Amino acid sequence: MGETFQIQTATWRDLNTLREIENVCFGEDAWPLWDLVAALTLPGIVRLKALSNGRMVGFISGDSRPAERLGWITTLGVLPAYRRQGIAAALLKDCEEKISLPRIRLCVRRNNDGAIQLYHKFGYTQVGVWPNYYQDREDALVLEKVFKKEEYSRDRFLA
Ligand SMILES: CC(C)(COP(=O)(O)OP(=O)(O)OC[C@H]1O[C@@H](n2cnc3c(N)ncnc32)[C@H](O)[C@@H]1OP(=O)(O)O)[C@@H](O)C(=O)NCCC(=O)NCCS
Repeated sequence: MGETFQIQTATWRDLNTLREIENVCFGEDAWPLWDLVAALTLPGIVRLKALSNGRMVGFISGDSRPAERLGWITTLGVLPAYRRQGIAAALLKDCEEKISLPRIRLCVRRNNDGAIQLYHKFGYTQVGVWPNYYQDREDALVLEKVFKKEEYSRDRFLA
C-alpha cells in the first residue's frame, strides 16, 4: 500500500487527540495528563504525529540527552485501524533522525511481540531488563540501537 499519511511536529494543540491515542494504545499504562503536556511542550523532546486525511492517528516522542550521547524513545502508538501501514516505522525513522545521537534506547513489554518485531527490524537489540516494571508487574525489556557516525553527526535542530 502506498503512503497515505504525513509526519509532522506535534504541538500542545494536539493534547486532546494524543490523550485519546494513548488511552487506546496503552490502556492502564497510558501516561497521565501531565506527562503528555510535558511531551508536547518541554525543550529537548522530539514530538511527531502521523496524520491520515488530516486526522492524527499516531504519535512518537523521544528524549534527547546529548550530555550522555543517548536518546530515549519514550512513547510510540498508532490507532488500531491504521496499523500495519508503515506509520510506526515512519515515525520511528523520523524520530531517530531528529534525535541524532550515537545510541537510542527504549523499553517495551516483554510480551509485546508486534512492537519488539518492529524494533528488531530497525536494529534494536536487548541490553537489559527492568523486572516487574509495568502496573501488572510484567517485565520491561530495554532495547538499544547504536548508530554509525554518519547517521548521527548531522547538525540538527530539535523539534
Ligand atoms: C507497535 C505499533 C506502534 C506498531 O505500529 P504500526 O504502524 O502498525 O507498525 P508498522 O506498520 O510501521 O510496522 C512496521 C513493521 O513492524 C513489524 N510489526 C508491527 N506491528 C506488528 C505486529 N502486530 N505483529 C508483528 N509484526 C509487527 C512488522 O515487521 C511491520 O512490517 P510489515 O507490516 O511489513 O510486516 C502499534 O501496534 C501500536 O500502537 N501498538 C500499541 C502501543 C505499543 O505497543 N507501542 C509500542 C510500545 S514500546
